[in-house]
Amino acid sequence: MGFDRYGLVVFVMSTMCLMKCSLGFDPQDNYLLDCGSGRNSSVGDRIFLSDSFAYRFLSNPEQESVTAASSQPIPSTYGSSLLTTASVFNKTSNFTFPINHHGRHFIRLYFFPFVSDSRAYNLTSSRFSVSAQGFTLLKDFQPDITPTVKEYCLSVTSVELVITFVPSVDTFAFINALEVVSVPDELIPVSAQAVEVPRTNHSLITHALETVARINMGNQTVSPDEDTLWRLWNSDGPFINLNSLVRFVTNLSVVNYTADGPSVDIAPLAVYGSATKLETESNPNMLLNNTWFFNVDPGFSFFVRFHFCDIIKRPPSQLVLNIYLNSMSVFKDLNLGQHTSNVWGAPYFLDAVTRVSGNGVISVSIGTSLANGNPPESILNGLEIMKISNSKGNLDETDPRIVSLTSQSKQKVWVIAASVAGALLFVGVSGCLIFILCRRNRRKTSNSGHSPQENLSPNESTIISKSKIGYRFPLIAILEATDKFSESLVIGIGGFGKVYKGTLFDGTTVAVKRGAPQSRQGLAEFQTEIEMLSQFRHRHLVSLIGYCDERDEMIIIYEYMENGTLKNHLYGSDLPKLSWKQRLEICIGAARGLHYLHTSSAKAIIHRDVKSANILLDENFMAKVADFGLSKNGPEFDQSHVSTAVKGSFGYLDPEYMTRQQLTEKSDVYSFGVVMFEILCGRPVIDPSRPRGMVSLVEWVKEMQKKGELEKIIDSYLVGKMKMESLKKFVEIADKCLADEGIDRPAMGNVLWNLEYAHQLEGIEIKTGQTGQTVNGSNGVSSTGFAEGSIGDLDGVSMSRVFSEMVKGEKQDLR
Ligand SMILES: *[C@@H]1O[C@H](CO)[C@@H](O)[C@H](O)[C@H]1NC(C)=O
Ligand SMILES: *[C@@H]1O[C@H](CO)[C@@H](O)[C@H](O)[C@H]1NC(C)=O
Ligand SMILES: *[C@@H]1O[C@H](CO)[C@@H](O)[C@H](O)[C@H]1NC(C)=O
Ligand SMILES: *[C@@H]1O[C@H](CO)[C@@H](O)[C@H](O)[C@H]1NC(C)=O
Ligand SMILES: *[C@@H]1O[C@H](CO)[C@@H](O)[C@H](O)[C@H]1NC(C)=O
Ligand SMILES: *[C@@H]1O[C@H](CO)[C@@H](O)[C@H](O)[C@H]1NC(C)=O
Ligand SMILES: *[C@@H]1O[C@H](CO)[C@@H](O)[C@H](O)[C@H]1NC(C)=O
Ligand SMILES: *[C@@H]1O[C@H](CO)[C@@H](O)[C@H](O)[C@H]1NC(C)=O
Ligand SMILES: *[C@@H]1O[C@H](CO)[C@@H](O)[C@H](O)[C@H]1NC(C)=O
Repeated sequence: MGFDRYGLVVFVMSTMCLMKCSLGFDPQDNYLLDCGSGRNSSVGDRIFLSDSFAYRFLSNPEQESVTAASSQPIPSTYGSSLLTTASVFNKTSNFTFPINHHGRHFIRLYFFPFVSDSRAYNLTSSRFSVSAQGFTLLKDFQPDITPTVKEYCLSVTSVELVITFVPSVDTFAFINALEVVSVPDELIPVSAQAVEVPRTNHSLITHALETVARINMGNQTVSPDEDTLWRLWNSDGPFINLNSLVRFVTNLSVVNYTADGPSVDIAPLAVYGSATKLETESNPNMLLNNTWFFNVDPGFSFFVRFHFCDIIKRPPSQLVLNIYLNSMSVFKDLNLGQHTSNVWGAPYFLDAVTRVSGNGVISVSIGTSLANGNPPESILNGLEIMKISNSKGNLDETDPRIVSLTSQSKQKVWVIAASVAGALLFVGVSGCLIFILCRRNRRKTSNSGHSPQENLSPNESTIISKSKIGYRFPLIAILEATDKFSESLVIGIGGFGKVYKGTLFDGTTVAVKRGAPQSRQGLAEFQTEIEMLSQFRHRHLVSLIGYCDERDEMIIIYEYMENGTLKNHLYGSDLPKLSWKQRLEICIGAARGLHYLHTSSAKAIIHRDVKSANILLDENFMAKVADFGLSKNGPEFDQSHVSTAVKGSFGYLDPEYMTRQQLTEKSDVYSFGVVMFEILCGRPVIDPSRPRGMVSLVEWVKEMQKKGELEKIIDSYLVGKMKMESLKKFVEIADKCLADEGIDRPAMGNVLWNLEYAHQLEGIEIKTGQTGQTVNGSNGVSSTGFAEGSIGDLDGVSMSRVFSEMVKGEKQDLR
């Protein structure tokens, strides 16, 4: 029974899990709209919905948009059936999409400016801006007369994504079709290394990306239908102007997606199975570069991904490459075999970031190397270039000073001049000399510790600064503790990976959280969690026992919490119900833990993911706060908030944080208020199976409170088993926690104090008034009892004294 009872969930990880199957990616969010169209339109295997559906996402469709249909023939391109109609907006209009998956999403905007059938609209005279999530995607945009699909990749962690169209003065905006599709978490890393010295990491997580080039090498276009994420990969062929030293190769059958390499979602078979390589027959012994040139907007940084797959040489005949971006070395002597465990046809990719100024050109060179003594070869299978939003959250406007210098060169036509910029170094007699020089050069750079190879290696063996923490476990100890990660010991599964119950060599029972190997997203959270937990020891915070980062593992070992999550005891399981007193005590414990986080160090720690699934219960049902993966240091003393991308869990997110992205301790207070109502009502914060108006717990509570019928939504198990005074106090506190403005919410210390007061009211008999009256059905609590919920007698009287006592008490908790 033990396992069944506690087994389901101990930790529910904060990142949401994305299903990935071998047949193709199944996005959790998948909005496809054929704007202005009276019927659904199928494109490949997808259906773009007609206006009657598109209208649902517009706040005020009748007033905001008119539809237009083209009177012209539409050029034949992918999705051209979507381009025959459009929605036209003559004032600011918002599309609002509910978001299920917190993480990166593609936004694709289809534009084709036609003249409408009645000539009512000439879409070429439109001019408008488009923004989403605080990012400017397009500014005073005037669409090209050819069909254009703009693709953006945004991190969305709020409950909805709003895309805003703003017409420029005296004109209007339009859109032919729109896609909002979630993408796998591993697609875009948290950060990537700059090629410029010093090779610092450029954070990507807080930025929006715009695809400016996505190229399949090998002179073949890969259509969105051949890609699990419906990406278009343009052929490099049409742009090549000098090709005597370039050869296209294709061999799809040799591509072998291995378990520890990139998945088909990173790039499809058609991309890895074709390549542009050096023409070696007539140039067998030359050191050469193949170079491609791309025109881009200057003044931005760009994320560049190189896709490689050795489809030409059977191992162990290894391919060694030199990779350059704007003549700066990205990677010297990349030995493809070494990075793919010598599996023939195993895909591999490399990321880099570069800043572009001046002439607005990115050059990509793949050079041959003699490092392993083989005849030189060079190969590139695919290339992606994405513009990174600048510090102002803008993807379309540079700093005005830069623009004034370079506005003439701002063009968006992609010219790839794949050419050979090769110094023709004959290897014959001088071959040995070059070979030696290369080797020496390589040794020198690796000694200096700045070898690009070292810097870019994805295998960070040491992720945590070890000086701080002494809890590093060898992998072998963890394998032993978990019976080699036996499936029978799994006690929880989340977006981050699995949680196992383990027994250490000394007999201690522990919970072992193991990050999924490719979860790049998880790395930052893994680090944060260990760093946070190792700073704190508190009775009401889950203790860190150790961690393991051997062989790219991301493993955290916690104290084992016998009774699992609070959530599991509130609903959705057949565990015995918690009494009102137990619930109050759990609230008090969790509040103590949070209060400690907020106040124990000079800089407050904000948990950011307070929810019932992150409150764990030990064998005595004592509450401990868990999961610090999203925690963040609070504002400095001279600032009132921290600006940050919105993270957290659906249903618990502070509305102020969501809209302004300003994080304070009061965001945790809000989430805690939600947890309090969850505890009182014994239902999920979001329950899609309920009728409208009741789906969101917070909305429902507010509605019922307005009607003075809050008692109707209390967990039926509690009805008749709680005292009215303590209930009243409890609701009053929870309600204050949910104040719209952070400034109106009480501090965690205040919440804690009031909870203890409610606990006392429950425990002792008060000899005045309606003492001891319990809540039963609709009679127990009068409507005025809640609606006018006056502040308790003790409130505000001697708060400062109470506080100082509480803080003193708190200190004794420290271990
Ligand atoms: C369009 O597709 C939706 C969803 O698949 C479907 O419910 C609706 O009936 C379709 N409408 C038409 C006109 O085919
Ligand atoms: C703008 O929209 C309003 C309301 O639909 C409409 O009456 C008006 O004619 C539109 N103006 C233009 C220039 O399209
Ligand atoms: C559109 O969304 C923006 C930002 O979310 C908001 O400020 C604006 O009021 C909304 N406008 C309409 C018409 O809903
Ligand atoms: C539409 O407007 C463009 C420029 O704004 C103009 O060149 C074109 O002739 C117009 N077409 C029609 C049919 O009015
Ligand atoms: C870049 O990030 C990696 C981990 O993603 C880290 O190991 C490395 O130290 C970082 N480099 C710099 C210069 O911050
Ligand atoms: C690339 O393929 C196209 C046909 O798809 C062909 O016309 C062109 O010549 C090819 N380019 C090269 C450089 O071979
Ligand atoms: C393609 O790869 C297979 C191995 O999977 C090999 O047998 C075959 O000869 C290759 N084809 C070409 C044209 O190189
Ligand atoms: C793919 O590589 C694995 C080794 O990672 C090997 O076991 C398997 O046979 C290969 N598959 C094919 C089709 O070559
Ligand atoms: C290849 O290009 C890089 C960067 O432009 C350059 O440093 C290198 O010398 C070139 N190699 C050859 C063989 O031309």
